[in-house]
Amino acid sequence: MNNKNLKSKATHILAIANQKGGVGKTTTAINLATALAAKKKVLLIDLDSQGNSSTALGVDYTNREIGTYHLLIDGTIKDEMIKDGIVPNLSLITADENLAGAELELIDVPEREFRLKKGLETLTQHYDYILIDCPPSLGMLTLNALVAASGVIVPLQCEFLALEGISHLVKTVTRVQKSLNPELDIRAIVLTMYDKRNKLSELVAEDTKAFFGDKVCKTVIPRNIRISEAQSYGKPIMLYDHKSSGAMAYISLAKELMRRFQ
Ligand SMILES: Nc1ncnc2c1ncn2[C@@H]1O[C@H](COP(=O)(O)OP(=O)(O)O)[C@@H](O)[C@H]1O
Ligand SMILES: [Mg+2]
Repeated sequence: MNNKNLKSKATHILAIANQKGGVGKTTTAINLATALAAKKKVLLIDLDSQGNSSTALGVDYTNREIGTYHLLIDGTIKDEMIKDGIVPNLSLITADENLAGAELELIDVPEREFRLKKGLETLTQHYDYILIDCPPSLGMLTLNALVAASGVIVPLQCEFLALEGISHLVKTVTRVQKSLNPELDIRAIVLTMYDKRNKLSELVAEDTKAFFGDKVCKTVIPRNIRISEAQSYGKPIMLYDHKSSGAMAYISLAKELMRRFQ
């Protein structure tokens, strides 16, 4: 089957961002991308030099010599940058430790905030969803993601001070919206690692809804050990244990977001 035939009209480019590490960005990127790929044509861009998304989708280190780093530095896409991982309909642009240097190398490049956007221009026609797994900072890489994106998905770990942590991100999104990308908006907040036995999870969820209202997804991602096990086997949760609470949550999140973006 020609995959291009699956493509519907609009491409949603979604940056998965939160400057805090360990909150579930990569986990959400790979599992949401996998769940979306059951119905849509999806590209995942690994924008973190740790390359965790690339690993979790089973792309070997030896197959990552050309990826996001080259896309940003060259400013154009080449066929060999796009890898097929283990999930049908889900392609990947991989990252490796070279990407850590891009932050500095981009300083002297003209229109440096627009490199990713330019690089993706010719690609958008081929995908329904392009997800960008951002690094845990608000530096030049995340800025490139925010300029290229049509929306931001913020994974928020249900823990103490979670909301305080994202006020900086909210300000950055507002600033980018005003100066570089008027289309940008926070489209969804996803509560991650929710533990229903822990009162704190419930409190964080309530506070987040009070502050962000409808932007908070109804689907909450539970803390589920199978999710992290899956990553260590280089697999998304649906391919590792499709009956787990984690798999079901990410499938439900994909459905909820597809309804929102329709
Ligand atoms: N819902 C979850 N249940 C259990 N472990 C999770 C869950 N979400 C993420 N993790 C684990 O937490 C750690 C940090 O998640 P990760 O997605 O890498 O965060 P980030 O990309 O924001 O740094 C990883 O070890 C991951 O496997
Ligand atoms: Mg990550």
